[in-house]
Amino acid sequence: MKTLKEFIQEAEKNKVAIGHFNVSDLVGLKAIFGAARELKLPIIIGVSEGERDFIGVRQIAALIKSLREEHDFPIFLNADHTKSLEKTKEAVKAGFDAIVFDASKLSLKENIKKTKEAVAYVKSVNPDILVEGEIGYIGSGSTILKEVPAGAVIKLEDLTKPEEASQFLKETDVDLLAPAVGNVHGIFKNAPQPNLNIERITEIKNAVGVPLVLHGGSGIKDEELEAAIDAGISIIHINTELRLAWRRGVEKAFRENPEGVVPYELLPTAVEEIKEVVEHKLKLFNKI
Ligand code: G3H
Ligand code: ZN
Repeated sequence: MKTLKEFIQEAEKNKVAIGHFNVSDLVGLKAIFGAARELKLPIIIGVSEGERDFIGVRQIAALIKSLREEHDFPIFLNADHTKSLEKTKEAVKAGFDAIVFDASKLSLKENIKKTKEAVAYVKSVNPDILVEGEIGYIGSGSTILKEVPAGAVIKLEDLTKPEEASQFLKETDVDLLAPAVGNVHGIFKNAPQPNLNIERITEIKNAVGVPLVLHGGSGIKDEELEAAIDAGISIIHINTELRLAWRRGVEKAFRENPEGVVPYELLPTAVEEIKEVVEHKLKLFNKI
């Protein structure tokens, strides 16, 4: 089977994006894996520190490994938004395929220093594990937002600059880069989602030359995501829309079966709702 790095290089070459979907439990995992298998497309499963705390670091690694081996299927695991070296070490030891080291809340100088440390550690243990760095804080909650999260970068003058990205890359040597280009984690309830700056994506891509990752993919219009892929995005992260689908599914199951108590009879409705969202995103990202 090709490595994650090879799949990303292939996506970069073909101007498509690999779907990165976060999970909190087996319901989400079943849905995402089911959609990817039907479409025969590689996928990355992401778990943030909170999601990892809930499922278990070694437990999610074992689940992904078992799916990959049993079905000989390209499903990869990413330690999403890892904020400390300690949590990085945990994920590396558990056998994750990739780490997002997120020091985006710090100044560029501090961000570079911490990310460099993480890259040095990861590569000393296993050079095949991919490390992604982030520039520009874009909020931290995959949830419904009433306003722009404090400190999140959305104004043109604050977006990641190509020169910053190039300096970050030279000094840290990350494999993948996640810039702030108008994307925000979460979905705005009563306001339009900020627009992506497609021109800035192109400029950053030209400045760094490594695959770019778009976080905060939920709530962004299909046409904008398509344009972002054409401009150089090779991986797109989706979480909030899956969480909303999970809730829709659970509510629907209880509406249809108000007295129900059997999880494996109720939860397939949530699996179906999530799967539908994932299928749509995967087709969009892969121009199917
Ligand atoms: O790392 C996770 C993502 O960036 C998800 O963002 O909740 O806005 O889809 P989202
Ligand atoms: Zn993210």
